[in-house]
Amino acid sequence: MLESLNPQPQDKILQLIALFRDDPRDGKIDLGVGVYKDATGLTPVMRAVKAAEKKLWEVEATKTYTGLAGEPAFNAAMVTMILGDGFADRAASVATPGGTGAIRQALELIKLASPTATVWLSNPTWPNHPSIIKYLGMPMAEYRYFDAETRGIDFAGLMADLAKVKAGDAVLLHGCCHNPTGANLDAAQWAEVAKLLRAKGAIPFVDLAYQGFGDGLEEDAAATRLIAGLFPEVLIAASCSKNFGIYRERTGILIALTDPARRAVVQGNLAFLNRQNYSFPPDHGARLVTMILEDDALRADWKAELEEVRLNMLGLRRALADELRRTTNSDRFDFVATHRGMFSRLGLTEAQVNVLREKHGIYMVGDSRINIAGLNARTVPILAAAIAGVVR
Ligand code: LMR
Repeated sequence: MLESLNPQPQDKILQLIALFRDDPRDGKIDLGVGVYKDATGLTPVMRAVKAAEKKLWEVEATKTYTGLAGEPAFNAAMVTMILGDGFADRAASVATPGGTGAIRQALELIKLASPTATVWLSNPTWPNHPSIIKYLGMPMAEYRYFDAETRGIDFAGLMADLAKVKAGDAVLLHGCCHNPTGANLDAAQWAEVAKLLRAKGAIPFVDLAYQGFGDGLEEDAAATRLIAGLFPEVLIAASCSKNFGIYRERTGILIALTDPARRAVVQGNLAFLNRQNYSFPPDHGARLVTMILEDDALRADWKAELEEVRLNMLGLRRALADELRRTTNSDRFDFVATHRGMFSRLGLTEAQVNVLREKHGIYMVGDSRINIAGLNARTVPILAAAIAGVVR
């Protein structure tokens, strides 16, 4: 049987991890996978997470199964963190293995409820979005998003494409910190998009993987909250990997907003999907997140550290934009300072990206997406000089 398997296409982000690891050069720089790194190149365990782990070790008395949908306290704390108060009666939710698990479960829910619904994706988007949709055999379409000239939003193209959405189609929106481009809609544009999709009868499907990495924890939820208030049905896939720094714990949540009268049925379907795919969701990370969000002191410390992380990335953005202005003697990379989140798409060709890797040991995704957090004060000038060399 297994001899009939064909090799699968490699995920281009994960492929870079291996390439970087196997590069023997000392000065190599990893701007690939979206993992936060501090100035020393370490992905630290956040202080509040360490404190919660210590406490958990002391008080945890059992490792028996948790609920099929996860611990209600985790789900409630996450719904409040993402949406604020007032959504409990509309929110069905399940804990999932990371944000990817939440995306997968959301797609499975769409398929279960409406097998012919098209899922709309921004062009470009995180490569695993189309990969999972294709794997599930679901209809898929793209809407324009990025303007390669300005490295901003192609808003006219986006609105023209979303005007073609049919009632009942799901439209995947990056709630904040667009991956891979770093270019984001402003508040007025979000309002226009929401109005159009509402008129079309679309189901917004928000991927919220970087809350707290853009403009702030509350600010980064603003678009999701706007949509939650306007639409009768919304799917939200959120990740704790980045904002709690617990990548390998696989902690995420899928929230399905619906009519209060439908909530129990939707909740039952979400729990059913968990049972089919992996039964009980992972608990350790979810429990740490709950402990942090429910404890005033831990929560305050976590928020303070998350803000340090965010401001560090903003500082690196400004430093890189300034340095590129100097080395290229142009303003063509000024957008790096206005982008938000971990990533910016630089607009280099694949050939230029290859030169950066082969000649300079600088690793970025082939579409010229860089992870800003992979930089530090020492490597910003090195990257800027190398980029100036390849664009000359
Ligand atoms: C990324 O885009 O680099 C992250 O979301 C990590 C991943 O799983 O691809």
